[in-house]
Amino acid sequence: MSAQARLALHGGDRAVSNGSIAKWPPISEIDRQYVLASLAGENHAFGPNCQAFENEFAAWNGNRYAITTNSGTAALHMSIAACGCGAGDEVIVTAYSWSSSATAILHHNAIPVFIDIDFDTINMDVSKIEAAITPRTKALMVVHLHGLAVDMDAVMAIARKHKLKVIEDACQAHGAEFRGKKVGTWGHCAAFSFNQNKSLCSGEGGMFVTDDEDLLNKARMVWSFGETRTPAQSRDYHAYALGWMYRNNDLTAAFGRAQLTRLTSYIQTQRENAAALLHQLRGVKGLILPVEPPHHAHSYYNFTCRIDSAALGYTDSPAKLRDKIMQALCAEGVPVGVWQHFILPAMTVFQARNAFGKGSPWCLADPVNYDPAQFPLAQRHTTTHFGMTTPLRSPHPPEVAQAVAEAIRKVFDHVDELV
Ligand SMILES: Cc1ncc(COP(=O)(O)O)c(C=O)c1O
Repeated sequence: MSAQARLALHGGDRAVSNGSIAKWPPISEIDRQYVLASLAGENHAFGPNCQAFENEFAAWNGNRYAITTNSGTAALHMSIAACGCGAGDEVIVTAYSWSSSATAILHHNAIPVFIDIDFDTINMDVSKIEAAITPRTKALMVVHLHGLAVDMDAVMAIARKHKLKVIEDACQAHGAEFRGKKVGTWGHCAAFSFNQNKSLCSGEGGMFVTDDEDLLNKARMVWSFGETRTPAQSRDYHAYALGWMYRNNDLTAAFGRAQLTRLTSYIQTQRENAAALLHQLRGVKGLILPVEPPHHAHSYYNFTCRIDSAALGYTDSPAKLRDKIMQALCAEGVPVGVWQHFILPAMTVFQARNAFGKGSPWCLADPVNYDPAQFPLAQRHTTTHFGMTTPLRSPHPPEVAQAVAEAIRKVFDHVDELV
């Protein structure tokens, strides 16, 4: 067997040559100009770049209002508070996401109620929402995971019927669309994250968005010490409510503004590279590719595949096979990883109910069931998936997607040598 055909894991040539995958995000003269101008300015706290970033992001996404925050989690907590979720209220959320999609609910003493995922889309199974609604349900936290929007027609119809608020966790989904409308414009309010790996990276950071002035004002109080005025206004330094300190700073906002000038083209590149990968990987035995259902525009923040071990004739633990395949892919030069090993209800904070101590907030309401066995599809996803981000990102040309596809084909062609 030639060195090219042999797995890199077994001493063959790498399919993706060293150095061909760039780090994220691309840094250009624009970033340097914005950040250095901020550094030369006079206000490094809530300075002029913060307000400009709010206005520019709101305009980019199609929202009336935006508040720049120091994380996506802060924006999620502000959303929970703004929507009136409080002690003992229930919020329905997917069983598979980043921890803070659910812990942000706890932050305001409300109780997460989990529902399983739809295996194909990896998003919450919207057909399971109504069965989870109780008289205590206040809101639906919908997470547009990996850049694919949840079916917002279904979500909004249920919310209208049961008079529930809808919070969009759009932390991974900048630029994703449903029926031609961007995520973050469907629900009552939404949260975006700008941390290291996100499609818009400002180091750390986030954005709360809404079209509702009342929600804006409530979120603002949580954002800055319970005050009613922003640092740009004349403050009376009075805590009108329980507030946190979730404000962004000028340098980070300047970096975010600079990256925002390229966000549309970043998403375009992700979509083009995903299309190339999907085209070249169709038909690979045992490989389940990400889907883009009708009416959706996936942003491909994370290109997540699953392994069908039965199709490969493998009967041992799916996670063992997945880990072997990932090891082989990494050796070929494809930076793949497992995004989440745990489903949310299985995490200790929920299993042990150890949020505020003394049983709070769960002691405030009827018992909720966090038995992981209730979420078999989310569980199956954790043991069978691997994902990647950087190879699809700007500035990678289609040749990188081509090399990545070749690496994946090569590994799946040699899967018998791995087990
Ligand atoms: C789905 C989801 N929700 C929330 C967050 C939290 O964002 P941050 O890390 O900016 O607080 C993240 C990312 O880390 C995420 O992926």
